Amino acid sequence: MIKTFHIPFAYKEFDDPEELNPEDRELLFSAREAALNAYAPYSGFRVGAAVRLSSGNIILGTNVENAASPSGICAERNALSNASSNHPEDKPVAMAIAAITDAGLTSNTVSPCGNCRQVIAEEEFRNGIDIKIILGGKNKIQIIDKGGDLLPLQFNRDTLKFNPH
Ligand code: THU
Repeated sequence: MIKTFHIPFAYKEFDDPEELNPEDRELLFSAREAALNAYAPYSGFRVGAAVRLSSGNIILGTNVENAASPSGICAERNALSNASSNHPEDKPVAMAIAAITDAGLTSNTVSPCGNCRQVIAEEEFRNGIDIKIILGGKNKIQIIDKGGDLLPLQFNRDTLKFNPH
């Protein structure tokens, strides 16, 4: 018997940072600031990520590219690794992402790549809490309440549990 499933996915969209609550706005502006520190000589696409920890502290990350491109890393994973390495007891509760090019802030929102989605999902599992994702564009901001929503049918520790070898 064939069954069809639908995975609901809701997010909010804003066209002005002023419409965000002050904490989310601060996080978005932190991501925009962080993007200025990116090392992106190959793509010219400078990404900043700002992670809010449960203490309220903000941890930043940028993309850091490499001539051997797979050795580069995205802003989101840099920020989450930084948070995990330096503040292991302080759980990430939100992350904002923004990018700048030579033309300034991107008009489109910047959405995490597949690798980063996997890492966000791991952090949510590890800590048992959702991470709110704030995707920043110049005049478009999207908010997803739970990072895992960006990775439906994800491979995670439950998958390992059910597939012992
Ligand atoms: N990049 C990020 O840092 N985060 C994303 O969400 C998407 C892509 C980086 C990787 C690379 O340095 C550059 O942006 C262009 O792909």
